[in-house]
Amino acid sequence: NRLLAWQRTGFHFQPKKNWMNDPNGPLLYKGWYHFFYQYNPFGAIWGNIVWGHAVSKDLIHWRHLPIAMVPDQWYDANGVWTGSATILPDGKVVMLYTGSTNESVQVQNLAYPADPCDPLLVKWVKYPGNPVLVPPPGIHHKDFRDPTTAWSTKDGKWRITIGSKLNKTGISLVYDTDDFKTYRLLNEVLHGVPGTGMWECVDFYPVSRVGENGLDTSYNDQTVKHVMKASLDDDRNDYYAIGTYDPVQGKWVPDDPTIDVGIGMRYDYGVFYASKTFYDQEKRRRILWGWITETDSEAADIAKGWASVQGVPRTVLLDQKTGSNLLQWPVEEVEKLRLNLKSFDNVDVKPGSILPLDVGSASQLDIVAEFGIEKEVLNLVNGSDEEYICSSSGGASQRGALGPFGLLVLTNDDQSEQTPVYFYIAKGTDGKFKTFFCTDQSRSSKANDVRKTIYGSTVPVLDGEKLSMRILVDHSIVEGFAQGGRTTITSRIYPTKAVYDDAKLFLFNNATQANVNASLRIWQMSSSNIKV
Ligand code: FRU
Repeated sequence: NRLLAWQRTGFHFQPKKNWMNDPNGPLLYKGWYHFFYQYNPFGAIWGNIVWGHAVSKDLIHWRHLPIAMVPDQWYDANGVWTGSATILPDGKVVMLYTGSTNESVQVQNLAYPADPCDPLLVKWVKYPGNPVLVPPPGIHHKDFRDPTTAWSTKDGKWRITIGSKLNKTGISLVYDTDDFKTYRLLNEVLHGVPGTGMWECVDFYPVSRVGENGLDTSYNDQTVKHVMKASLDDDRNDYYAIGTYDPVQGKWVPDDPTIDVGIGMRYDYGVFYASKTFYDQEKRRRILWGWITETDSEAADIAKGWASVQGVPRTVLLDQKTGSNLLQWPVEEVEKLRLNLKSFDNVDVKPGSILPLDVGSASQLDIVAEFGIEKEVLNLVNGSDEEYICSSSGGASQRGALGPFGLLVLTNDDQSEQTPVYFYIAKGTDGKFKTFFCTDQSRSSKANDVRKTIYGSTVPVLDGEKLSMRILVDHSIVEGFAQGGRTTITSRIYPTKAVYDDAKLFLFNNATQANVNASLRIWQMSSSNIKV
């Protein structure tokens, strides 16, 4: 029980108890950030899905509100499933969500606030004419869910997209509407990718090629790219691609078809699913919410009485330096929780060494680290690395000339439990370098009912850039961001020994040749104390 209690997080969003999954309908309304989520009020496993609801002034300090919507109609009797909010030009809010009907048909429903003057939007009304959309001909009744936020078209209509599949091709259907009550299905899909299976929780939004601001979902001109994201039901990961949207055809085309939706980039290379963005019209930024799933057993979830947390909300921007990937970064408000800064400057970490970093309690941390390697060694080593893959490598204990090096988080004194978050630089036989960012869970817990995957992927490193990572540690959650958020990894960790005062932090360099020079700023993080 002591172990289970320690797993509760300090500054990640979670209900007091029971099961949670997808983020739903996030929006900023009259100064309050609203967060809804798929929730089972009756247990720690999926089922009886309602919309949980919480509000915050800063995306970090939350207050739980009463459940917003429950399955009380034939058209959502099997669950009030995932949906999205749209704020109309006059400030009114419409919510579209999927209902699983009394016969388990997936339909789309409309709901709106009972009292638009209530900034907390406590009460919700379902439109009496629901459902507003049923599966179109040719679409299986269980493959039609998770409507997006609407965007406006040139001819003054609203447009939404809904994920589905045809055989094994993941697709996104497009509908136009004037009033959110009646809809017209477009002949062409927004996009589809063979072999990717059912697309859940599609998200579609513009990102700027020229500015640092986020953009309203309806914004479109020559200066934007459009991001298309799908959650792949078959492999439980969120994939995105960057491309161009043609509003006349209602089609989106990826910039690089070899890294199309579902076969290329992921938001996160750990556990991060069913994510959704919204536009924060006050701070002019686009914010991404993602569901962090459990990676222990269902029995363990039932024993602890709850399952899942949400990632710290992230701003998303196009990486204007590469032009080919997004940058994800924890919202700046999380920095208000920082306490007791400890700085370590230019620490030499010799090949094969581990150094303790004395930061006091290490269960709640914000770590910013920069690593340098001497140029000479890069030239000296032979380019011999086979194609390196984090997940099938030997993890942090597999030594190469130029890595791995990084941090051991949630690690006890004898390191019998350790979670390395690290870079690995591979030099190919062609002399070219590739940098990887990984999290190795293989020794993260003595428990045997938890997944111990090694997570990770490549991360673009441009000429002259230092290697940098940021890590948020929050008890059983580790969120890693490499190179300003080009590659991210979220892990759910279940230590049995590296808990409470025995959770420590170390710097390590397991390269055989590279001397690493590290500079770090590390803060303890206070708790955000979610209120009821
Ligand atoms: C994604 C998902 C959605 C669905 C909801 C049901 O995790 O399966 O497609 O609307 O969860 O809870």
